[in-house]
Amino acid sequence: MDKLVIQGGNKLYGSVTIGGAKNAVVALLPATLLSRDVVVLENVPAIRDVRIMLGIMGQLGAQIKMLDKTTYQIDTRHIGYQVVPNDVAKRLRASYYLIGAMLGTFGKAEVSLPGGCDFGVRPINLHLKGFKSLGADVDVANGMVKASTEGGLTGSSIYMDEVSVGATINVMLAAVKAHGLTIIENAAREPHIVDLANFLNRMGANVRGAGTDVIKIKGVEELHGCQYSVIPDQIEAGTYMAAVAAAGGDVTIKNVTPKHLESIIAKLAECGVDIEEGDDEVRVRRFGELTHCNVKTMPHPGFPTDMQPQIVALLSLASGTSIVNESVWESRFRYVNQLTKLGANINVEGSKMAVIQGVEKLRGACVNATDLRAGAAMIIAGLAAEGETEIEDIYHIERGYEDVVEKFRAIGADMQKRYYPDEDELELHA
Ligand code: UD1
Repeated sequence: MDKLVIQGGNKLYGSVTIGGAKNAVVALLPATLLSRDVVVLENVPAIRDVRIMLGIMGQLGAQIKMLDKTTYQIDTRHIGYQVVPNDVAKRLRASYYLIGAMLGTFGKAEVSLPGGCDFGVRPINLHLKGFKSLGADVDVANGMVKASTEGGLTGSSIYMDEVSVGATINVMLAAVKAHGLTIIENAAREPHIVDLANFLNRMGANVRGAGTDVIKIKGVEELHGCQYSVIPDQIEAGTYMAAVAAAGGDVTIKNVTPKHLESIIAKLAECGVDIEEGDDEVRVRRFGELTHCNVKTMPHPGFPTDMQPQIVALLSLASGTSIVNESVWESRFRYVNQLTKLGANINVEGSKMAVIQGVEKLRGACVNATDLRAGAAMIIAGLAAEGETEIEDIYHIERGYEDVVEKFRAIGADMQKRYYPDEDELELHA
C-alpha cells in the first residue's frame, strides 16, 4: 500500500502550474468517439481517471498515441460497439458519459452503473430522462444501463429538475448528432460544461448557450477531428490555494482561469488570505491569522462542492466559529472524523452542516483519504499540522491530482510517497 507522509509546518513558497481539468477531460475523451476522426487533445492531466478512460476508449478500438506528457492523439475512425462492463465502469464516475457518447455514435449503449466517490445517493434519473426525451428506449436492469434508438435520436426540450453537471453533459453528448433542436433548461453552468461545448463546436457541432442555464443544440450529421486544449483545473487550483492559505507562505498558482476561481478567491479573502489576480495566474499569500467564515456549496458560479473538504480543513485553523453548509450532496462530511484525528474541532449537524470551532494547532496523525477531495483536505491539514501525518488510500487522490508529491515538494512541502507492504505480503516474505 502506498501512503503519503507529510512533515507539517513548512510554509510554502514559489510557483506551481495547474494541469488540465479532470471533470472536463473525462467528458471530452468520450466526446471524441462522436467525431470518428482524429483529435489531438492538449493539456490532458496525468491522472488515474484519464488513464482509466483512455483504457476504455482503447477497448472500443480508439487508437491512442501519447505525443507528449499532456498531449494525446485519439483516432476514433475504427471504433466498434461494445458493452462496457461493471469491472471497468465502476472505476470512475464519468464512465456514465459513455452512455451519451455511444448513444450519439452507435445509436445504442450498454454501460454498467458508474462508480466514483461515495457522497450518499448519486442518482442518474435525469440522465435517463434526457435520453428518453430524445427518443431512446432506456432500461436499467442488473446494474446495467441499456439505451438504444431505432431511427436515430430526435431533439427535444428537456427540463432538468436538479442542476446536474453529469446529466447536462450526457444530454449534450447524445444530442449533438440528433435530428433537430434540443433545448436543455435549468442546465448546469460549470466551466467544464462550457469547455465541452467549445470542444464539440470545434468538431463541427452547433451548441449555443453553454455557461447559461439554457443550452441549445442543433443536431448535425457529422463531426470531424480537431486540435483542442483542455481548460485548467479549477479544483486543483483551489486546492493549492487552500494549502498555501493553511500552511502560510507566498505561492503563485500558474495556468489558471481566475474567473473560474471567483467564489474560492472571495472566501479565502474573507479568511484573511491575500490574493492577487493576474491574467492566467493568482498569487496567494498568507502570513497573518486566519479568520472564520461561512460557506455554502452551490452549483457554479457558487462555491464548488468539490472544494468543500479543502475549505473545511482550512477553517479548522481559523479563529472563531465557521459554518459550512453542503447543499449539493446528501452526505459529504464523512471525512470529518479523519480531520478530528489531527485535532480539528468539527461537529456535523444532520448530514449537511458542519460547525467548525477553529483550533490553534493541528497535530500529525495517521488518516485516510476517504475519497478524492477528502484526500486533498488531509494533505492541506497535514501540511499545516505539527509533526508527521500519514495518509492512507491515496489512490483516491491520484484519481484527480497529477504529480501531487512533486508539485507540493517544489513549493517547499516535506512530502513523500512511501510504499508499505500490507499484511499478506509480510506473511508471504516471513
Ligand atoms: C459532478 C462532478 C463531481 C461534483 C458534482 C457537483 C464529475 C465527473 N463529477 O458529479 O465531482 O461534485 O458534479 O459539482 O464531473 N442529481 C439527481 N439526478 C441525476 C443527477 C444528479 O438528482 O440524475 C442530483 C445529485 O444527487 C446531486 C445534484 O443533482 O444532488 C448534483 O449532481 P451532479 O451535478 O449530477 O453531479 P455529478 O455530475 O455526478
